[in-house]
Amino acid sequence: MLTAEENILLTQTGPGTPAGDLMRRYWQPVALSREIPLGGAPIPLRILSEDLVLFRDERGQLGMLGLHCSHRGADLSYGRVEDGGLRCIYHGWLYDPAGRCLEQPGEPTGSTFHERIRHTAYLCQEQGGFVFAYMGPGEPPLLPAYEWLLAPDTHRASDKVFQDCNYLQDTEGNVDPQHLSFLHRFFKPGEAEFRQFYHQGDASPTIDPIETDFGLHVYAIRKVEPDQNFVKVRSFVFPQWTTVASRGEDGYGVNWQVPIDDEHHWSYSVTFRRHPLDPAVLAENDTDLLPDFHLARNRANRYLQNREEMTTKTFAGMGRNFIVHDTFATEGQGTIHDRTKEQNGYTDRGIIALRARMLTAIRDVQAGREAPHVVRDPALNIFPDILARDDLMPQSVAWRDHWKGARQPVTV
Ligand code: FES
Ligand SMILES: [Fe+2]
Repeated sequence: MLTAEENILLTQTGPGTPAGDLMRRYWQPVALSREIPLGGAPIPLRILSEDLVLFRDERGQLGMLGLHCSHRGADLSYGRVEDGGLRCIYHGWLYDPAGRCLEQPGEPTGSTFHERIRHTAYLCQEQGGFVFAYMGPGEPPLLPAYEWLLAPDTHRASDKVFQDCNYLQDTEGNVDPQHLSFLHRFFKPGEAEFRQFYHQGDASPTIDPIETDFGLHVYAIRKVEPDQNFVKVRSFVFPQWTTVASRGEDGYGVNWQVPIDDEHHWSYSVTFRRHPLDPAVLAENDTDLLPDFHLARNRANRYLQNREEMTTKTFAGMGRNFIVHDTFATEGQGTIHDRTKEQNGYTDRGIIALRARMLTAIRDVQAGREAPHVVRDPALNIFPDILARDDLMPQSVAWRDHWKGARQPVTV
């Protein structure tokens, strides 16, 4: 349970809000590279409650500008990509990726009016099939050198999913390991596999969240008779991503929430392996996602929940795609979940730790301190402790240490 003031502090991310100020201290994914090919149309975006347009100029350089033209507010996403920038189709003003106004064709010859225009523009860069933007003040930090971002394209599949609710509900679901015992459960086919990879039959795991320099490690420990522990460890990383299920494979998933505004967000997802991906895994990822990155199963059609399926195949009756299940859970909490009315129990330890970590980070930024996990030193731009693992081990082994030094290198 939170106070009303804390709930507002955590969920509002527009310009000038405390959580918005925190989120603007990081490079945020704003699009998939494949959405904005060379020669492609500019795309309108809304990120952190700001209306923007992303375009790629003729040389391939990306620019992210305020959506509305500085002249008289026309929508620049309808603009022409030409002459080194983006040209408004209303009166022809031309902007470069840095927000400089290069031309104002209607102004008198010799006018210097264009030199005084500073249109909203944010720095962009690409890595690993993502477009990242920095929307904060001052010198941008380094783009963190996460292994899943630097790996060859063959090792990673990326997507994004529209979510019709506040970003925090999604993030909280990722540090809530106990719901694996219920929401995502399969009966047939695959119950034995599901049990092996996700819950091992123990529905009341020990939950052990630990603060780290990048965010949190969240352990879930399930007892396996006679004397084994099934230990899952996941990482929450500032500003807003979490490692998710590895299914015992060498790699993990990434789930990164980016607020569109306070009532909607994008959930970027990555399947990452330290070896080339199996095409079957890629095909699995495609289910239920429409070309506009909305889910075919959604709130309007009640996620196509099927009662017959609930008796024979799946616990939730919404197919087998975890993203659909999670979307039901988070959207169902309401547009902005009212955390003043929650009744938190033991299973919510990860969520409670997440909220505490975020509130501290928000207050650090409010006090003028550096936000956590803002990377400025190239020598420190390496993160061996960000991971997701599932391991079966004797109960005598310390779960907090078992994975240290065990990570495999990426192979091509
Ligand atoms: S509104 Fe864009 S050039 Fe006039
Ligand atoms: Fe889930």
